[in-house]
Amino acid sequence: MGIDKRQDSGYEAFIERYPLYAATGEIDHLRATEYPLLDRDGHVYLDYTGSGLYAERQVREHERYLRSCVMGNPHSFNPTSCFTTDMVDECRRTVLRFFNADPEEYVVVFTANATHALKLVGESYPFSGGDLFMLTFDNHNSVNGIREFDRARGAVTRYVPVVPPDMRTCDPVLQEQFGDVGGSRNRLFAYPAQSNFSGVHHPLGWIEDAQEHGWDVLLDAAAFVPTNRLDLGRWRPDYVAVSFYKMFGHPTGIGALIARRRALEKLHRPWFAGGTITVASVQADTYFLAPGAEGFEDGTVNFTCLPGVKIGIEFLESVGIDCVHDRVMSLAGWMIDNLLEMRHGSGRPMIRLYGPTGLEMRGAAVTINIYDARGEAIDHRVVEQRAMKRMISLRTGCFCNPGAGELALGLSRDEMIRCLHHPASRMSLEEFWQCIDGKSTGAVRLSLGIASNFEDVRRLLSFIEEFREA
Ligand SMILES: Cc1ncc(COP(=O)(O)O)c(C=O)c1O
Repeated sequence: MGIDKRQDSGYEAFIERYPLYAATGEIDHLRATEYPLLDRDGHVYLDYTGSGLYAERQVREHERYLRSCVMGNPHSFNPTSCFTTDMVDECRRTVLRFFNADPEEYVVVFTANATHALKLVGESYPFSGGDLFMLTFDNHNSVNGIREFDRARGAVTRYVPVVPPDMRTCDPVLQEQFGDVGGSRNRLFAYPAQSNFSGVHHPLGWIEDAQEHGWDVLLDAAAFVPTNRLDLGRWRPDYVAVSFYKMFGHPTGIGALIARRRALEKLHRPWFAGGTITVASVQADTYFLAPGAEGFEDGTVNFTCLPGVKIGIEFLESVGIDCVHDRVMSLAGWMIDNLLEMRHGSGRPMIRLYGPTGLEMRGAAVTINIYDARGEAIDHRVVEQRAMKRMISLRTGCFCNPGAGELALGLSRDEMIRCLHHPASRMSLEEFWQCIDGKSTGAVRLSLGIASNFEDVRRLLSFIEEFREA
């Protein structure tokens, strides 16, 4: 974008308020060279919490790698198999290095995605009668679903609310819950480092607070790690779940459970499978699980895509996660400032924001609803349809985060029970909408990432201006 165009777009005012952005100019160059399709096709991509985007360089390097070697199935001892095994180990080391995790302390289990990593913990955690599974309200459904495993084994699920409008948890309440362990022997505490609904960053200090009371901590870092540094040398959760496509777009189909060795030993797998055992016998009806990560990797890992994880991490390292962070936070700050200033002709605000309005302890995912001049929320599906016409990719709905959505949108427990404890065994989304009398059940999420630039935010803001009524 030329200087003149920048002047009328508010760029000068933006840089004055967010001078850190100017130091991330290298990413403007990357946007042109590594993500050229965005501007070629006129995209405004604002769903980085849904998926990251991949750089052209990652694809080229991955292709070059695949064309340079012969990879066999890693579960054998032959030249092509040993090559693949070495590559998988190198990928594990690269992941540990990226998160500054001590290989003596942490192992990397490759999974299909973050959901699969979370499920491995849920299905294998040794819950029994009287044990506890505690989690914040704003977890993704892939964490919420763990409650089905704990309940099936007689453990108790305990939710800790987040409080609108900031959508943070009241710290003294949580600290009290850490201390209230009853007669439990095993207790698991799960929370997102960054909420995929509100963008809130919950304190990583909770990890130690919980562990001091004997909780094992499962940190869902899926929405946090694409734009924030997670230092596992400083913070030591027992289990961490990530999806790599959220960090750098390619490859899909690979995530990781990064677990402390002794925390992994605490898990009891409910079954065994190819690749997870050292020995299994049909006649003796027994098996021995492989130690460490392999005992959790069912079948064959996605070994042709795995080199893409190493390439993606190296790419992100070359850009610098702190540089990405400074950039997206500057843009998020500008976006929030402008959204909150928007008013209809009558003076009524156009936007309601769910989450912190400042940049302290938040990430670059901003969730809003747009209101008309009478103060009625504009259905998020209408916003989505209109955004589509402007080539704007944003996310609408509740983002698989029902707890945060219910609290943010003011849907009460009684209302939810009345509506969902329905005689039918299944309920469609349309039936649910009717049941809660057309109350808004969703919102619009705008999330920024590695290739975001000022122009994306400018176009988004001018799109939202279209909803202004005189
Ligand atoms: C916070 C959080 N946790 C977990 C997930 C699940 O990730 P995946 O669908 O890659 O398994 C997501 C996806 O959006 C997320 O944002």
